[in-house]
Amino acid sequence: MSSVGDTLDGAIVPGKVPAHVAIIMDGNGRWAQQRGLPRQQGHWEGVKSVRRITEAACRIGVRYLTLYAFSTENWGRPKEEVSALMSLLVSCLHDEMPLFMDNGIRLRVIGQPDVFLPEVRTALDAALEQTAGNSRMDLVLALSYSSRWELTEAMRSAARDAKAGSLDPEHIDASVVNRYLATSFMPDPDLLIRTSGEYRISNFLLWQIAYSELFFTPVLWPDFTEEMFYAAIADYQKRDRRFGKVSGSNQSK
Ligand code: FPP
Repeated sequence: MSSVGDTLDGAIVPGKVPAHVAIIMDGNGRWAQQRGLPRQQGHWEGVKSVRRITEAACRIGVRYLTLYAFSTENWGRPKEEVSALMSLLVSCLHDEMPLFMDNGIRLRVIGQPDVFLPEVRTALDAALEQTAGNSRMDLVLALSYSSRWELTEAMRSAARDAKAGSLDPEHIDASVVNRYLATSFMPDPDLLIRTSGEYRISNFLLWQIAYSELFFTPVLWPDFTEEMFYAAIADYQKRDRRFGKVSGSNQSK
């Protein structure tokens, strides 16, 4: 793996790399349709982008990369597409293991893995276990995830704890809410990227993106290159993040 300077022409400031980048990988279906191919083909091509961007993020020192791979709403897609996505996930976990291990990438999952078929669960559990000792970058897959699901679960859990007496409702603040979220192990995203020209958040990390910088590109996910990713990072680095305050007093949670 080459150094940052090798390929970026100094466009990225090493000290200002976002710690957490989240991506809504959209446009696989349209990419396939534009070529008269079945939608599944777009997902296969999308995996190549996952590989490219994972490697690129790791190379520049992103600490957490969260990918919206399958939403709770995606279960409503045609059976064949859901099953193709599941097979793709299983083969990807297997095929990309050298990438994870060579680059110190730890795999994480946010969402409801228990709703997956046993073979998917087994592959996920194995990959989580195999990469658990890696610490250079966490690749967080949002699988059967939606923000409303996550917030509902968090509220249920907090209500249970309050009822049991281990949580005082008067002491609930933002940091307590964070502890009940699936994302409690990482900071909020600094940058959220969405491909494919749609300007919406689609039930993704609604609480966590309160102060994230947003980057939308018309490029479909299978066409999203390392260079485009680096350009998004460079664009982020030019932003003035104020977190509701005034310039010069930047401070996240
Ligand atoms: C959105 O495109 C993409 C998805 C619903 C799935 C994303 C999955 C992958 C990139 C491949 C599998 C990922 C991993 C991590 C193995 P869309 O189908 O909604 O595209 P469209 O809006 O053009 O129809």
